[in-house]
Amino acid sequence: MDEPLIGRVALVTGGSRGVGRGIALRLASDGAAVAVNYRRDADAARRVVEDITAAGGCARAYQASVADESSVTEMLSAIDGDLGALDLLVSNAGTASRGTTIADTDRSEYQRLLDVHLLGPLALIRAALPQLRTAGRADVVAISSTITREHHRGAAAYTLAKSALEAAAFTLAREERAHGIRVNIVAPGLVATDMGERLVAATAGATIAELEPSYPFGRTCRPPDVAGIVAFLASRDGEYITGQRITVDGGTPDVGLFA
Ligand SMILES: NC(=O)c1ccc[n+]([C@@H]2O[C@H](COP(=O)([O-])OP(=O)(O)OC[C@H]3O[C@@H](n4cnc5c(N)ncnc54)[C@H](OP(=O)(O)O)[C@@H]3O)[C@@H](O)[C@H]2O)c1
Repeated sequence: MDEPLIGRVALVTGGSRGVGRGIALRLASDGAAVAVNYRRDADAARRVVEDITAAGGCARAYQASVADESSVTEMLSAIDGDLGALDLLVSNAGTASRGTTIADTDRSEYQRLLDVHLLGPLALIRAALPQLRTAGRADVVAISSTITREHHRGAAAYTLAKSALEAAAFTLAREERAHGIRVNIVAPGLVATDMGERLVAATAGATIAELEPSYPFGRTCRPPDVAGIVAFLASRDGEYITGQRITVDGGTPDVGLFA
C-alpha cells in the first residue's frame, strides 16, 4: 500500500521546521491531507506546503501559537473548512528552556514552557476531541523527549513541561480509548534541527556535526526517524497501540550533553 494514510486529515503543530517539518512531509507522502501549523516563520511553512504540493500531496499552512487558545480554536475551524474533519493530531511545537538551574528559574519561565508544551496542547486536544471522537479511528501523537527520564541539571522547566505532557497523554489514552482515539508519545533524543543545534552550542560549545561520530550509529536522530514512527503509529499497523512511549535515540548515547 503506497499511501496508508489516504483519507486522513492531520494537523502537525510546529510543522514548518525541524521535527515537525519531517512529520508533515512524511504524513503527506503517506496520503494524509496535512495542516502545517507555525508560529512566526511563514516562509518556512510556505516552503513545506510547496514541497508537499510539488510531490503531489495536499497541505495548507496555518498560523497560530499553540500557547494562544483563541488562535488555536480559530485554526481548528479553518482546517475543518479547508481540509475536512481532523483525525490525526501531532502535538510537536515546542521551544527550549533557558538552561538555568532551579535556583535561578523564576515562575514566568515555568509558565512559558508549560503554556507551549502542556497547557496549549491540552487546550488544542480538548477543542479537537469532538472531531476526533466521531472519526471512528483517530490518533493523537505527542512529541516529547528522552529528557523526561534523564533529569539533567539546568533543564528543569523543559523537563517538567514535557513530563507533564507525557502524564496527560497516558491519561488521555485511557480516557479516549472508548472513542477510538489512540494516544501515544514519541520521545526523541538529540535531533539535528535548529533547536538541537542551539542546545549543543549552549551545553557543549560544539555543533551537531562535531558530536555525531560519538553518537549511536555515528549520527544523531533526524526528523525522518521521528516521522517514521509517527506514521507507523497512525497507520493500520499501529491501530492496536495506545498509551505507549517510543524512544528514538539509537539506544542510550554514551555522550551526555548536560554535564
Ligand atoms: N531538537 C531536539 O534535539 C529535540 C529533542 C527531543 C525533543 N524535541 C522536541 O521536538 C519538537 C520539535 O523540536 P525541533 O527541534 O523541531 O524545534 P525547532 O527546530 O526549533 O522547530 C520548532 C517548530 O515549532 C514551532 N513553534 C515553536 N513555538 C510554537 C508555538 N508557540 N506555536 C506554534 N508553533 C511553534 C516553530 O515555528 P516558528 O518557526 O514559526 O516559530 C517550528 O516550526 C519540540 O517539541 C521539541 O521539544 C526536540
